[in-house]
Amino acid sequence: MRTVTTRAALTTALAQLPRPVGLVPTMGALHDGHAALVTAARAEQASVVLSIYVNPRQFGNPADLAAYPRTLEADAQRAAAAGVDLLFLPDDSEIYPPAVEVATMEPGPLALRLEGAARPGHFAGVATVVSILFDLVAPEVAYFGEKDAQQVRVVEWLAERRTPPIRIRRVATVREGDGLAMSSRNARLSPAARRAASAIPQALAAVKSLHANGERRVDLLNDAAIRTIGAEPSLTLDYIDLADDVTLLPLGASAHLSDAASGRVLVSIAASIEGVRLIDAITLRA
Ligand code: PAJ
Repeated sequence: MRTVTTRAALTTALAQLPRPVGLVPTMGALHDGHAALVTAARAEQASVVLSIYVNPRQFGNPADLAAYPRTLEADAQRAAAAGVDLLFLPDDSEIYPPAVEVATMEPGPLALRLEGAARPGHFAGVATVVSILFDLVAPEVAYFGEKDAQQVRVVEWLAERRTPPIRIRRVATVREGDGLAMSSRNARLSPAARRAASAIPQALAAVKSLHANGERRVDLLNDAAIRTIGAEPSLTLDYIDLADDVTLLPLGASAHLSDAASGRVLVSIAASIEGVRLIDAITLRA
């Protein structure tokens, strides 16, 4: 594995890599979820580029940015072990050159609700940095996790509008033994909060099992998730949301899953515990 930190060195290194190239953008603190993206890219592309950049523009809160874990040495080892060919570790001036006014990318209509509403400016920051990485690496395919379900839709929207378009490959969420989606934020939880957090995947599992038994009414599926989260008093529910998986438009309380025109429904949850915001999602057939 080669490591580069500048735009110029990246361009030189890319010229020597066999195509097609798969790009895996990350913010580091790598875990098995990130490794699954690399594994998918390794299996499908001739070369794999992994970027690690903690993007200030997608953090609303400076304390959150400062608290973001930085574990570069362990990350480099993990990246090499997972099969990365080229590790790109830019600093702020490489991504946002001070002499150039970097325009903020419009994240589009998919960014308005859910995390977009809870974290104003977040998806504009994500769209901006992902566009810059797409420009710099020009991969054939880029890999994103379904854990961040709205992010992957926003990125798909962005990628479709590029010429040539970049293909986005979704990778299934990797979970801990108790079902909690892997996240760098999980390390910030006390043991008690960590146990309580498993109510989030349990709520999604409750929805999934009702669905498997034929339930298609949005209010009843919603209630099942609310009850499961409510049984864990230390968790504060931000939202449980059922939406069309493609448009991300909400299904109203009186709706039926078949009202989702795409035929797929995204069930997403955001909840906080000890000041740590956790998100998770699954998709269901309508
Ligand atoms: P980060 O949180 O580091 O995540 C990088 C990629 O790993 C994202 O595509 C995310 O969805 C995926 N991922 C995280 N946890 C996962 C899990 N448990 N299973 C499967 N995939 C998982 O998301 C970002 O960084 C940033 O917003 C970024 C896209 C890099 C732009 O700055």
